[in-house]
This record gives sequence, C-alpha cells and structure tokens, in this order.
Amino acid sequence: MKGLVFTEFLEMVEERFGFETMERIIYEADLPSGGAYTSVGTYDYGEMVSLLTHLSEKTKVSIPDILYAYGLYLFSTFERNYPTFLESATSAFDFLESIEKYIHVEVRKLYPDAELPSFSSNRPNDTTLELMYMSERKMGHFALGLIEKSLEYYNEKASVAMIPYSEDGTRVKFVIEKRN
Ligand code: HEM
Repeated sequence: MKGLVFTEFLEMVEERFGFETMERIIYEADLPSGGAYTSVGTYDYGEMVSLLTHLSEKTKVSIPDILYAYGLYLFSTFERNYPTFLESATSAFDFLESIEKYIHVEVRKLYPDAELPSFSSNRPNDTTLELMYMSERKMGHFALGLIEKSLEYYNEKASVAMIPYSEDGTRVKFVIEKRN
C-alpha cells in the first residue's frame, strides 16, 4: 500500500483524535516500518489493518466507520493532488465509471506497485449506476466515502446503497440512484 495512504491516514487521526492518540496507536501497532512513512514509499497492507484495529479499540469507533470517514477525508487529497482526473469528467457517473478504465490505470503507471481494487459498472437506466467493488483489501466502506464525496463534487444528489456480495467484504455492490 502506498505511503500516501498511510501519511494521510495519520494526518486524519491526529486531526480528529489528537497527537497523543496518533503516537499511541503507532506504538501499539508495533509496525515493521516504525510508522515512519514517506508518501512515495510502499508498505505492507497489514500495517494499515493494525493501525485500524488499534485506533478502533482506543476510540471505540468501528473499523467500517473509520474507513468511511477516511474515504471522505482522502477525497480532498485527491482533489488537491490529482485535479485533472476530476476535471476530465463532467458528471459523477462518468467520473465513477472512469476509475477502472482511466484513473486507477494512470495511478498504476505512476506507482507500478499500487494495490488497487477492481470495479465493474453497469447503468440499468439513466438515473442509476451500479458499481461492483472487488478487492482482497475489503475496503468497501472507504469506497463509500469516496463515492459520496464524488457526488458532492459534481453537485449531484443521489442515494447510495451498499450491498454486500461476499461474507468477507471482498465484493460489494453499490447502487447509486440520482434524485432531483
Ligand atoms: C482522483 C481520483 C482517484 C485517485 C487519484 C485514486 C488513487 C488511488 C491510490 C493512489 C490508491 C492507493 C493504492 C495503494 O495504496 O497501493 C487507491 C486505492 C483505492 N481506491 Fe482510488 N483513486 C481515486 C478515486 C477513487 C474513487 C472515486 C474510488 C471509489 C469508488 C476509489 C476506490 C479506491 C479504493 C477502495 C482503494 C483501496 C484499495 C483497495 O480497496 O484495494 N478510488 N486509489
């Protein structure tokens, strides 16, 4: 997992729960990297799981809720660091459909070792987009936060239903329905 995902995560933890909590979870998580992340480095996904577990224990916020909050938070980082990806789409549906075929493809060119999910999409009608999330990392709630912020970015109102497709969280279907 890319260092950026860790540095931004720790920044959010410090902002929401304070410096002490951030220091404590880094210490308790007993990380091979020692918690000294650089944004261009690559680190074991297990370190993220460990940080999430310790933060959840300490704050009593569930891991899905932390991941969801992190998705909302990271969207602003993407907006800042990769504005062209957002500008190249004219609607939230176009943007979300472009993750698999364009955005994450470009991300992979920049970082060949990136660990990315895969998405398949389907538009059953003009007002509905179905996105199927597939990843061994089980970060569906993180995707939910990013999807909600994407809708907000394009000023679109929609409901987002998150439907589990596997018991272990590796497959999740999102049904996004536009409202007027
Ligand atoms: C400007 C837009 C975007 C950029 C630049 C971007 C880039 C990235 C990067 C750099 C990672 C980390 C890879 C790693 O750590 O190895 C990532 C992971 C991820 N991205 Fe995107 N992304 C974007 C939009 C989205 C959106 C809108 C969604 C949700 C529908 C999404 C879903 C995910 C998920 C769920 C992961 C976590 C890894 C996993 O589940 O396997 N991304 N993305």
